[in-house]
Amino acid sequence: MDSERQRKVALVTGASRGIGRAIAVELAAADVTVVINYVQRREEAEAAVAAIQGAGGRALAVQADVSDRGAVEAMFRAIDERLGRLDILVNNAGIASRIDSITAITDESWHRTLAVNLDGAFFCLRAAIPRLRAAGRGRIVNISSGAALTGGAIGAHYAASKAGLLALTAKAARELAREGIAVNAVLPSVIETDMLDQIARGPEARERLSTAFPIGRFGRPEEVARVVRFLCLDAPDYLTGEFISLRGARL
Ligand SMILES: NC(=O)c1ccc[n+]([C@@H]2O[C@H](COP(=O)([O-])OP(=O)(O)OC[C@H]3O[C@@H](n4cnc5c(N)ncnc54)[C@H](OP(=O)(O)O)[C@@H]3O)[C@@H](O)[C@H]2O)c1
Repeated sequence: MDSERQRKVALVTGASRGIGRAIAVELAAADVTVVINYVQRREEAEAAVAAIQGAGGRALAVQADVSDRGAVEAMFRAIDERLGRLDILVNNAGIASRIDSITAITDESWHRTLAVNLDGAFFCLRAAIPRLRAAGRGRIVNISSGAALTGGAIGAHYAASKAGLLALTAKAARELAREGIAVNAVLPSVIETDMLDQIARGPEARERLSTAFPIGRFGRPEEVARVVRFLCLDAPDYLTGEFISLRGARL
């Protein structure tokens, strides 16, 4: 019972597939109880829970659209009721719709992208802070993107949302540093997930883009997950306010 109570709890948003799922699996393998948030794909979220449980880990799925403040608050209340603590927040949920020129970005796609990628992270961060304080220390990792620094391939709406996440990371890290709560951002470049369909459409575009990386390939979700695991479980308190890129030597 004591070890149950001592087991850390992590919320990973957007963990039904892709990078979030890999992060959830990685944390669960390190004995962390993982809350798998998703918005639509319940079956995939339940499959991720089953995979973790099948490997001897602990996980549960909680639906919430992170852009909906009320839904986020309800998700945190569910975590309070079912698990009673929170030690780690990974703001991973994100959307991308490729729109090449700024003049083609509609108000709707601008607002929706900012709502999910930036408002969602803010709502979760704000709700997590009192819980992490109650736990006595904490770790927050925000999944930004290389696009935050380069503009990237998806569009200005996406790049701006991910750059906003860096500012949120920096300020949160400053505010929380003396409380043992480390806040860092991870900036993947191109990772093999469903989102790749938005970044490079078709085999030729993919081939061209992958060879632009000196390593000769795109990244894998598990590679991002290993960095997140380090930040959440192994990194010293002094490693906070940092932006860590995974970019296959494409400098
Ligand atoms: N793939 C890349 O190359 C790449 C590069 C840099 C950064 N990133 C960032 O990494 C993160 C994960 O990307 P990915 O490639 O793994 O994406 P993905 O395969 O498209 O998965 C997206 C995940 O986010 C969830 N989600 C979407 N909208 C949501 C909402 N409103 N509320 C809650 N969850 C929501 C999805 O849930 P459902 O399954 O229920 O739809 C899914 O679990 C994103 O923030 C993305 O911007 C990705």
